[in-house]
Amino acid sequence: MIVRHSGGSYRISFAQRSELAALADVCSAIVTDRNVRGALDMCWPSLPTYVLTPGEVSKSLRTYGEAIEWLAAQGLRRNDRLAVIGGGVVGDLGGFVAASYLRGIDYVQVPTSLLAMVDSSIGGKVGIDLAAGKNLAGAFHPPVEVLIPFDALETLPSRHRRNGLAEIWKYAFIADPMLAGRIESEGASQSVVHRCIEIKQEIVEADEFETTGARATLNFGHTIGHAIEAALGYEELLHGEAISIGMVLESDLGEAIGATQSGVANAVRECLQAAGLPTKLPDVPVDTLIEFMRRDKKRSTANLAFSLLTRIGECKLVTEVDEAAVRAVLERR
Ligand SMILES: NC(=O)c1ccc[n+]([C@@H]2O[C@H](COP(=O)([O-])OP(=O)(O)OC[C@H]3O[C@@H](n4cnc5c(N)ncnc54)[C@H](O)[C@@H]3O)[C@@H](O)[C@H]2O)c1
Ligand SMILES: [Zn+2]
Repeated sequence: MIVRHSGGSYRISFAQRSELAALADVCSAIVTDRNVRGALDMCWPSLPTYVLTPGEVSKSLRTYGEAIEWLAAQGLRRNDRLAVIGGGVVGDLGGFVAASYLRGIDYVQVPTSLLAMVDSSIGGKVGIDLAAGKNLAGAFHPPVEVLIPFDALETLPSRHRRNGLAEIWKYAFIADPMLAGRIESEGASQSVVHRCIEIKQEIVEADEFETTGARATLNFGHTIGHAIEAALGYEELLHGEAISIGMVLESDLGEAIGATQSGVANAVRECLQAAGLPTKLPDVPVDTLIEFMRRDKKRSTANLAFSLLTRIGECKLVTEVDEAAVRAVLERR
């Protein structure tokens, strides 16, 4: 698969983890995290490696500063290439380091979590969190290549597997009803992952800088999901778990305001429940959730904005959603 963008294009391909050692021929340094470094020890490219503490805590200004200073200390130059091997945290942090070191150097995304394979490694969005909120500093800096070591998923903990499955279901819901049946029979197979990447590729090519609304459809379940994550302090639930709940509630909302065909919310709920994902709102005050939604980046007017399903397989951005309707759905629990 090839993704085209304003500055060129990049190839996305599948590989075996044993092929990663060959990155030593084309890259000069690696950013990763401790879990990934340990899990892929046998095939690690012999290159200087910056190893992050696993988890969202590493998407910070502090880690960013340490990592970029480390690159400078390695003497990396403009034409050197960075390999970013890990989940979405490593991809976002490492990609942002590549975007800003010497005003931008080339990097290869090597996603090792399911979520990173189907989502965060594609589209060129990189960044870090600020104290004021998640992903508030960042850049559009597409990789020069995405290399997916599919068999690396063998060591991914099952909770993180389910986490990625939530985004996989999202692709079926927003763009491809046929994919739903395949997920049910095959789970997160390589061909299912391939299809998800195709869908994301099409969407990001149509809306590289998030200006036309097409890319916003990827945010189905995310307005409420992000609010849940923020309200819980990003600890109790993983991103995919929060958006699983968000997808169910945003389908309820869509049905309530007449944007979503009736019956969709139940279908969404059943698919996600069967995948072992949570679908019920945790115990957080509705006012807190509404407050976080008011700060949402998609919002451009006084009302709230949601990417809502019209039916299974189709999604559109609805920008003028009355807060009272959202409140009513959240209060139903
Ligand atoms: N840039 C984007 O477009 C985009 C899109 C979606 C999400 N994101 C970001 O992605 C991040 C979440 O990504 P994530 O869920 O991959 O989190 P993560 O990077 O924290 O990875 C999840 C866990 O799995 C471990 N891990 C990863 N691969 C492994 C493997 N093969 N074997 C064993 N352990 C492995 C990691 O060490 C970590 O503990 C969030 O920060 C989110 O904001 C970015
Ligand atoms: Zn997401």
